[in-house]
Amino acid sequence: MSLFKATLFSLNTSYSNPQYTRMFLLQTLLFLILLSQNVAQNVLDISNNHSRAILIKPCHVRIQHMDVTTHPDIVIDTHTPHISWQLANEYTDNGHLIREVNQIGYSIRVKNVITDQLMWNTNYVQSSSSSHILYAGIPFTSDTRYTIAIKYYTKKHESQWYTVHFRTGLFSLMDWTGYWIGSNYLNMNQLRTVVSLRSISIESATVFISGVGFYQLYIEGQLIDPSRRLDVGWTTYQQRTLYTSYDLTSVLSKLSARQLGIGIVLGQGWYNQQQWAISLNGRTILAEQYGPPRALMQLNIRYSDGTNQSIITDSTWLGREGEHRFDSVYMGTTMDLRATLTCWSCANFTDSYLPWINASILPSPVNFTAGGQFSLQIMDPIRIGPDALHIATSGRLGHVAGVQGASITDGGVLKPISEDYINGLVFDLGQNFAGWCKLSSLNASRSTIIQMRYAELRYSRGVNGIDFAGLYYENLDSIAVMDTVILNGTGNETFEPLFTSHGFRYLLVNGYNKVSKDDVECYNAHSETTLIGNFSSSSIVLNQIQHNIVWSQLSNSMSLPMGCPQRNDRTGWLGDAGLSADAALYNFDYINFYLNFLTMIKDNQTPDGAISDTVPFMTGFIPADPNWGTAYITITWCLYEHTGDITIIEKYYTGIQAWINLLVDEYTKTGLANMYYHFGDWVPVQKISNNSLVSSYAFLRDVYTFVNMSELLHRTDNVQKYSQFYQQLAEEWHRVFYNLTVNGYTDGSQSANILSLTLPTVVPNHLRTTVLNSLIDSLVNTGYFTGGIISVAALYPLLSNEGYHDLALKLALSTSYPSYGYMFNNQIQNATTTWEQWNSLPTGARSSLNHHMFNSIGAWFYRYLAGIELNALNMITIHPRISYDIDLLNYIEAEVITIKGAVRVKWTRMSIDSMELIVTVPNNLDANILFDPLIKNGQCLKLICDGKDILMRKNRNDKLYWIKDDVHGINDFSENYATGTISIRIASGQYTFMTYWH
Ligand SMILES: *[C@@H]1O[C@H](CO)[C@@H](O)[C@H](O)[C@H]1NC(C)=O
Repeated sequence: MSLFKATLFSLNTSYSNPQYTRMFLLQTLLFLILLSQNVAQNVLDISNNHSRAILIKPCHVRIQHMDVTTHPDIVIDTHTPHISWQLANEYTDNGHLIREVNQIGYSIRVKNVITDQLMWNTNYVQSSSSSHILYAGIPFTSDTRYTIAIKYYTKKHESQWYTVHFRTGLFSLMDWTGYWIGSNYLNMNQLRTVVSLRSISIESATVFISGVGFYQLYIEGQLIDPSRRLDVGWTTYQQRTLYTSYDLTSVLSKLSARQLGIGIVLGQGWYNQQQWAISLNGRTILAEQYGPPRALMQLNIRYSDGTNQSIITDSTWLGREGEHRFDSVYMGTTMDLRATLTCWSCANFTDSYLPWINASILPSPVNFTAGGQFSLQIMDPIRIGPDALHIATSGRLGHVAGVQGASITDGGVLKPISEDYINGLVFDLGQNFAGWCKLSSLNASRSTIIQMRYAELRYSRGVNGIDFAGLYYENLDSIAVMDTVILNGTGNETFEPLFTSHGFRYLLVNGYNKVSKDDVECYNAHSETTLIGNFSSSSIVLNQIQHNIVWSQLSNSMSLPMGCPQRNDRTGWLGDAGLSADAALYNFDYINFYLNFLTMIKDNQTPDGAISDTVPFMTGFIPADPNWGTAYITITWCLYEHTGDITIIEKYYTGIQAWINLLVDEYTKTGLANMYYHFGDWVPVQKISNNSLVSSYAFLRDVYTFVNMSELLHRTDNVQKYSQFYQQLAEEWHRVFYNLTVNGYTDGSQSANILSLTLPTVVPNHLRTTVLNSLIDSLVNTGYFTGGIISVAALYPLLSNEGYHDLALKLALSTSYPSYGYMFNNQIQNATTTWEQWNSLPTGARSSLNHHMFNSIGAWFYRYLAGIELNALNMITIHPRISYDIDLLNYIEAEVITIKGAVRVKWTRMSIDSMELIVTVPNNLDANILFDPLIKNGQCLKLICDGKDILMRKNRNDKLYWIKDDVHGINDFSENYATGTISIRIASGQYTFMTYWH
């Protein structure tokens, strides 16, 4: 399993390593020699340094993981933010990326914008570190604006200063002066006030606001931040409710009068949602009903004359039931357009007869006495449209030939690709996704009722004897998904549902037949993010799987990783979240999204360390199934691997240890042989006979990862304690699960053997080949993989690591049942998202067609097929795995835009015995490039970089010679004689390699 391997690797490498220092000196020497020989094409000539203006500055500056290029208004709620930046790319005169650009020092200055007070001045710091620099200046104050100026130094240059802005939230509850308002008497979902400003000469205006379940803020009839939806994020409200903040300076600066109208619209959301009772394994849990929606707002204005004014929510606000008469996340919205009032949040609004009544003061949703917190939402909000997805990648951006479905990079708005009439107008959006549709140009008489219904699937006429091609609602279970509008009759009306979201591909419109395709626009809603990964290959099957992975990930990223977007479930299932996190982090910048989820898991943890299967806890069990609870550890570890931010491990370390200790207690009662479980290897083709083995797998894996975390934090006590414990568990595993009669574990099933082989040191060395052969025989003889979500995540890395990469590829390329490819190669539906089950069809299981729990294979695409291992961004590894069989796959192009910059890999198999590999390594980062033999038991004959020979071997078994050529940036090589793998160490930059094997 890559998780373990990568850890061991990252522990061995760091910038303070003396070996690195030696390397560094060697590089410098080499560099000087090259200069003196005047052959350094891609090195900048130092003597010309002064005549040539080199305008370099830090870029993609991040504060608390928020990239300023996508976050123009960064708000933080910590006194110790961490700061990261990228080193600018430098180019030679002929446009080539200059190699080996490394930082040797930096300076940071933080200032208060208003007072100009210098909060922090690092002066020159000699350091290669450009990520997660912890602020150590004067503590910040609430609602204050600051600038950070950053400059870095390389051996050759000093960058320009680069200045970015951020501001602070409200650090203390005492900073809040407003009241939560709403009503216990009526469905008060529109709230308004009019205030007199002291002046219209405004220096700054900042609003802090929360509304549960959901809120929208209006100023003078204008919706603030209109792409933002379903805000604030869903939490276990009594433990933590989130607030957000907007900079309203420009909005308020436009005012021409001192009267200001403010409006808030509230939705039930997850706060007063009728939570459907989910029956699971005989247990039914009803989630809490918190009460009516409520809002809290505080608008802090600073005038040009230096005076301040705070406008707050209180009982002088007026409220009524607005035109949205009903809203439910699950069931949809009912909107009565006859009740719409124009400009109801404007100062000049007058309404003489409609029942606006004073709002009531309601209690805070937070239970402060039980330790609850009211905190800033650090993750990005859910959005629709182009604002929802920023694009950091280059290249083919999902527009891969032959892939079915919509491209995620097309702006987030979907238009019907076809229309039809079956019991109403049926529109096909061509893509399964989460969100809703807007209807325009509605021209019908007053009180006309139009209904929209949504489904993932249409019945296929003629298949399985079905003679109906209407929408398939059966997999929505107990909910009837329906958005309803009652027209006002004023002509040319528009309807867009509010505070709801559906998972669908098909839209049915009833009650009005004059809707044309042009009048339908659908929005793909998800937590805002940046596309940072791109993966495409010579295989259309892999490309479609990748497409389905990114769409199902987005559909299920709704302020928390949700199990599914359509039926009466939609909960934060930990199992799903843990299994897809690695793939998700390769494709999307969801760092703060997952950090928010980890904090919710931590909030939810009971004093004895137990965590629940779902967070917020809606269904499932406490304590969670070990394979569900493992998400706590997996997500923490993945975030560290993808960012190198050690504070993430520090923050959750104690909670993780408490969870592991709870598992230890449970284990002590039962032993591994009877380890408790709730779900086992979920939705397999064939059930495994012993699910205790499956939950023991998560347990051992957690203990092992915890040892790695402890090493990173220098907790030698825990390293020793838990590594000894791991060895004890590994021995017990073999003792209680090994079954001589099947040459494998328990029932000898694929899953049992995969999980056993994946865990380090569980299978004794002398039996490893036997067990592996038994697994391979089963896969080859059966022709497919028989396990579920847990073992499939381990399957592909295991096969690639154990010399069966060709078999792994064959399984991944399969399109017959059961396989990923079958999901888009069957007579019912060509899936555009990942299914919940191998056979999620009307005639099979009535399950979801848009789940992310099977997305684990996406991590294998990046880690193994492209070979990009990020290793906490210390020294990355690029180790593409290539099949011996050239027909399986002969081309991969992948990129990941990391905190340090773009990692790109493109390999092309030229022939049986040769391959081209083009790699790009970001500045301030070294990489280890590994070349595996293209031929079984083969040896490297020659390695060429940029057209120059680097390594050569005359005859088989001769020594491989390193030709001391003039390729800058290549620093070291080694050959593994046992495997034939060649590894080369390179500095930042782009390199084109050719390898030849015999
Ligand atoms: C009321 O105010 C709004 C926004 O400030 C403005 O657009 C509208 O024209 C005004 N209406 C009247 C009747 O003055």
